[in-house]
Amino acid sequence: MHDQTPARCNVVVLLSGTGSNLQALIDSVNQAAGANPARICAVISNRADAYGLERARHAGIPTAVLDHKAFEGREAFDAALVELIDGYTPDLVVLAGFMRILSGDFVRHYQGRLLNIHPSLLPRYKGLHTHQRAIEAGDTEHGCSVHFVTEELDGGPLVVQAVIPIQLDDTPATLAHRVHAQEHQIYPLAVRWFAEGRLRLGASGALLDGQALGASGHLIRP
Ligand code: GRF
Repeated sequence: MHDQTPARCNVVVLLSGTGSNLQALIDSVNQAAGANPARICAVISNRADAYGLERARHAGIPTAVLDHKAFEGREAFDAALVELIDGYTPDLVVLAGFMRILSGDFVRHYQGRLLNIHPSLLPRYKGLHTHQRAIEAGDTEHGCSVHFVTEELDGGPLVVQAVIPIQLDDTPATLAHRVHAQEHQIYPLAVRWFAEGRLRLGASGALLDGQALGASGHLIRP
């Protein structure tokens, strides 16, 4: 009989904070009960006190801490990080609130197998304080984006964006809350696409099922 089960996709998650996106990934893999080929094989943090590490331990996922302050500079830290990550033979590396700017060498090493999530409708609002900036600009819509990582900070070909309306009475906190809920939908979706072999980085952008995803990626308006 022909085995239809896709090959396992080893995923390493990097984070620095609370790890609610990690939790969404764990939950989505568990809920799929074997139908999702993604397997989170390690969670790595640059901060020993990151709550995301607790979540990983609770889920029985191996964890590791690599403190960037113990290294002379970015290149030295990133080289050690690559060595640590590659020990888990990842097919995909997922940045889930990893608060480090990554060197060109790191990004090139994982070209086409490195995803990030950002709390804005990229290319708008790269960097920090995205919710406040969207409100202050008078935008009517905001959201979040999953993208392949390139050497440009918060740049790189877009995979999927969730777009939500900004309400008149929104504060950065209320808006962040609703955007976060969307992050928990689109990141597991993108990771599953990748794990299933449906998503890849082509020469001129992200491809889903062989079709170019275009400048905004796949758009979701919940
Ligand atoms: C998210 O807002 C994500 O977009 C950004 O970092 C945050 C991580 O949140 N890259 P959490 O730790 O997953 O809750």
